[in-house]
Amino acid sequence: MRKQIVVGNWKLNGTKVLCHQFASGLAGYIGSVELVICPPATHIDCLVSAASAHSSTVSVGGQNVAAQSGGAYTGEVSAGMLRELGACYAIVGHSERRALFGETSEIVAQKASHLLEAGITPIICVGESSLVREGGEHAKFVGRQITEVLSRLAPSAESAVILAYEPIWAVGTGNTASSEQVQSMHAHIRSVAAPFINSVATRVLYGGSVTPDNAANLLALPDVDGALVGGASLELDKFLAVAGGC
Ligand code: PGA
Repeated sequence: MRKQIVVGNWKLNGTKVLCHQFASGLAGYIGSVELVICPPATHIDCLVSAASAHSSTVSVGGQNVAAQSGGAYTGEVSAGMLRELGACYAIVGHSERRALFGETSEIVAQKASHLLEAGITPIICVGESSLVREGGEHAKFVGRQITEVLSRLAPSAESAVILAYEPIWAVGTGNTASSEQVQSMHAHIRSVAAPFINSVATRVLYGGSVTPDNAANLLALPDVDGALVGGASLELDKFLAVAGGC
């Protein structure tokens, strides 16, 4: 049985005040869904401490991690550092990082490997552009992204990763993928991942304009095990409403 998980990706947003607001607001949460917030790296410590002070069950994650474990890499944050801050998860290969920061599948795999070594669960993002979908190549494209990353991970990665399908055309646009598009891609991802990980036990999340209005339908799909939420994760009520749709 895969436990549903809703992950908030705050991107380049958030303040210490918001960390405290979420930590206290989620303190009484009794739902069955696992809740994770990924604030900017500078705020992980604050959110972890605030969650602990409020006995809040929310877990904390990073939005990115260095592809190296240490050394002369100015500005980077390693998996070990994230672990020391109290992060349990970290997003890798988000489409914004692939498009804006040149992250290749090889780099994504290096990052995921460092996270696994540090005992942090990587949330590996994949997803096609509108051009690729219009060309009918989306299944092949996403399948290749999955294979390129998972084939580079040690076999011990078995069921220790989370996969997230985020079609680029749905991220931050208000254009959510349809239930049919999501279910068929998630089933495809599970089958493509099967040679590398225990894909039946692996959680596959959907991301891309998830809101309280569409969450219940998307999260009820058989191969959807939760959501990766951007915009709607910046407001506590909306984030909780999305989780309530599980
Ligand atoms: P969105 O972002 O929910 O604002 O579309 C999702 C994401 O980028 O992870």
